[in-house]
Amino acid sequence: MALQSRVDIGGRERVPSRIKSFSRRGGRMVRQYEDLLAERGPEFVIDIAAGDTPTTIASDAVVDLTKEFRREAPLVVEIGPGSGEQLVSYATTHPEHNILAIEAWHPGVARCVANAVRGGVNNVRLVEGDCAQILPVMFGLRSAGEEDPARVRELGPERDAENPNSANPRAAMMWTFFPDPWRKARHRKRRLVSAPFAGIAAGVLAPGGLWRMATDWDDYAWQMRDEVEASRYFDNLCAGERPDANDPDGARGGFAPRWDGRLMTRFEERGLEAGRSVHDVTAVRRELGSGEGELDPGTNEPDAGKKD
Ligand SMILES: C[S@@+](CC[C@H](N)C(=O)[O-])C[C@H]1O[C@@H](n2cnc3c(N)ncnc32)[C@H](O)[C@@H]1O
Repeated sequence: MALQSRVDIGGRERVPSRIKSFSRRGGRMVRQYEDLLAERGPEFVIDIAAGDTPTTIASDAVVDLTKEFRREAPLVVEIGPGSGEQLVSYATTHPEHNILAIEAWHPGVARCVANAVRGGVNNVRLVEGDCAQILPVMFGLRSAGEEDPARVRELGPERDAENPNSANPRAAMMWTFFPDPWRKARHRKRRLVSAPFAGIAAGVLAPGGLWRMATDWDDYAWQMRDEVEASRYFDNLCAGERPDANDPDGARGGFAPRWDGRLMTRFEERGLEAGRSVHDVTAVRRELGSGEGELDPGTNEPDAGKKD
């Protein structure tokens, strides 16, 4: 993932160490899935030049989404589809949409392909790897190849006009459903929904596009709400709504109703069975001025669309 921490070595050199937001990557995969992936994978998995690690793509990879989907259509992006239940269910009921999913878990990619084949859909494409590295490359964001989270955040959603990937269509909707919760305090920095990732999400979404999130972990729900409300690129669609008595911020609220387009997956089921509440957070990509995300040379801070 492009989100990294910096390590000081003897006060001389700062070497970034990669932070991963996903807990599993490989794992045992039954032969049947390997065979299916080999046979049917090329129909769904976009063939992209590999990066330095198994979860990254080459920072200069060129991807033409219109060519990959073989048509222009409203784009939906799913982050971490797992086995692809939501992905394929939505693809089946929305044949008029193109749905791009990024999944870091290799067996998950195979399961998504199996589900897509079973569902008979042809409007799904997959990329295997870390969305925080892949999305900036695929959408030609200026942060593509940037490893430092502070810089990723500073660069925000700006596209690099010289990068051919910057011509890829922006998404009408992006989903981050039940991201890995990283519950221990010392692991919180691994959580995907963060300020740098909000900038990436804003680069993927069209103005007015929706970033839909859901989690069964209360403190991650508060974090999602906080990140969205702090971001200069988003408004919380349900600001102030549905306050939760467990929220340390009391009556603040900011939670969306359960989206009826979201399938009940085993992650949601497990959370509910364990007595946890599920919160949805829905952010709207703001329409900002032409200089959005540009750095103010005086402060080195983005100078457009600041939130009060
Ligand atoms: C807890 S599962 C949820 C799966 C699915 N969204 C659902 O609701 O059933 C989280 C998924 O996100 C994937 N994931 C986590 N971090 C990721 C990243 N940086 N890029 C791509 N996938 C990621 C994991 O591999 C895993 O499949």
